[in-house]
Amino acid sequence: MVKKIKQNISLALLVTFCVVLSGCVSTQSYKPDSPKYAHLAMTPPMGWNSWNFFAKEIDEAKIKAVADAMVSSGMRDAGYEYLVLDDAWMAAERDKNGALQADPVKFPKGMKEIGDYIHSKGLKFGIYEDRAFRTCQSLPGSFEHEEIDMATFAAWGVDYIKMDSCSAEGNGNLSSEDYMLYRKYIEKAGRPIVLSISDFGSAAWVWGGKESSQLWRTGWDIRHSMHSVYRCADCSGGNNRIHPAFNGLWQFAGPGYWNDPDMLQVGNFTIEDEKVRESANKAHFGLWCILASPLMAGNDLRVITDSVRDILTSPEVIAVNQDKRGLQGCKVFVDGNLEVYNKPLADGTTAVLLLNKGKDTADITVTWEMIGLSGKQPVRDLWGHKDIGIFEDSFTAKGLGEHGNMMLKIGEKGRPLPAPAPMPLDKYTITRKGVTSLCDLYYAWREHNPPVYNKTFEGKPIVIDGKTFERGFGCKTKTDFMFAGTERGDRLIGTVAIDESYQGENSGRFRIYHEDRFANRVLWDSGQMTKDSPAKEFNIELENYNCIMLTFDGKNKETGKKAGDVLGVFGDPQIIAND
Ligand code: GLA
Repeated sequence: MVKKIKQNISLALLVTFCVVLSGCVSTQSYKPDSPKYAHLAMTPPMGWNSWNFFAKEIDEAKIKAVADAMVSSGMRDAGYEYLVLDDAWMAAERDKNGALQADPVKFPKGMKEIGDYIHSKGLKFGIYEDRAFRTCQSLPGSFEHEEIDMATFAAWGVDYIKMDSCSAEGNGNLSSEDYMLYRKYIEKAGRPIVLSISDFGSAAWVWGGKESSQLWRTGWDIRHSMHSVYRCADCSGGNNRIHPAFNGLWQFAGPGYWNDPDMLQVGNFTIEDEKVRESANKAHFGLWCILASPLMAGNDLRVITDSVRDILTSPEVIAVNQDKRGLQGCKVFVDGNLEVYNKPLADGTTAVLLLNKGKDTADITVTWEMIGLSGKQPVRDLWGHKDIGIFEDSFTAKGLGEHGNMMLKIGEKGRPLPAPAPMPLDKYTITRKGVTSLCDLYYAWREHNPPVYNKTFEGKPIVIDGKTFERGFGCKTKTDFMFAGTERGDRLIGTVAIDESYQGENSGRFRIYHEDRFANRVLWDSGQMTKDSPAKEFNIELENYNCIMLTFDGKNKETGKKAGDVLGVFGDPQIIAND
């Protein structure tokens, strides 16, 4: 079946886009008063990060060799500026003043020395920390050391901080509060530093990540397989994380703040067939470029092959990523494994990625209708650096093999093409006085099984204690979903029960949170419920909330682990706004 996602184009909607973005309200009291820090990443950050290739095995010699290679390979001149040391650079203990210190074996001369070396190569220095009491590798985290750590990093000359979230559930802080705290202490330390939210895709676009940070992760860690690459891409450019009506997260990014589907694995694939491997590297890089994703290379630059270097430094493909208009591209056509993405550019032309994610060779066509053009248009091949002709109404890439793709630039220079229509605010958040059923809004984040609107998970009517609910959500096994707030709303009411069609012995638990699971602010908890439990009603007072998460967790009676078969229902959750 061919699914077409039509773009609706008008200048009026471009205006709506700006209104939507400025309408994303958060409850933060601290507002950056230093505008220069808000403009540190007007195009997606580019650099290299140690994690994807070296993991914990980093040291002074390797990092210096990578810095040298960033220069000699041409990466620096292609635009890669940050060299980021990920987890495991630090000693197991803080010093006697409570400051972080370098691992004495790996970095015997300390971190300032490494930073100076990186700077001496014309690069910028990035570093990793975690907002819990320990990092993902169980080294000292920044929790309760936020101020001293930001001051230490500033003193070392750090320009970019990746702030991770392992173990952060214990903080008791909202994620939005946590990251704002780091922004505050970065500014207090007086050094312009990019702040990168690493929270495995826990909804920073919903809770206002752009108030504190320049980029945020949209999904779990990327691995060196194309399955993982496509999954990460679909957390940002597809609907793994959001209601399909949004068509990806594009409307939440723009100059200054970016969706981050994680670091690049270009050059790390172990695919044997050289041609397929090259196609995979190009497919991955092309996707990241059209999605306006941060470009943090993650391969061993000391031994880079010509093919990988040419891909990572391809000027015309990078230019699509770095286009100053800063629109994140989106899917305009999907047919099984065949996809077309479009990113309107500042110069009036538009970038298009034609991608075959499958194994079978296929042709892929982009029609001008999909991308807001008509008539005869020039087409340029960006990987091949050549104009390929004038085409009328459409262009077809023939014989694209496994991961085969083409990056194109289509159209004449001139007035920029309109952006696609964003989801209006009132379709996904509470904008009006009175009663709003959450079932009339699109969720802006989800994880695990998506909730089913107005039906049980298996598509049947929702019936609780003999009463049929026209509105509600059907959940299964594990379903987490979040609605963006606007501080409007005084109460949240509704009913929960185990779906009456479920006759097993396992239990399920419903919880309602303010913000994400890291924040761990539980507003209401049903406790474990079984098929025999009476329905439970919630009636929660809301105050200063910036998003609401509904969750259902099935539990296996015998093992205590996740139960794959339990079904739960929310009966018409509603928000009541008094004024
Ligand atoms: C998490 C992050 C990764 C990496 C590791 C380091 O898993 O998501 O990107 O930083 O921690 O421990």
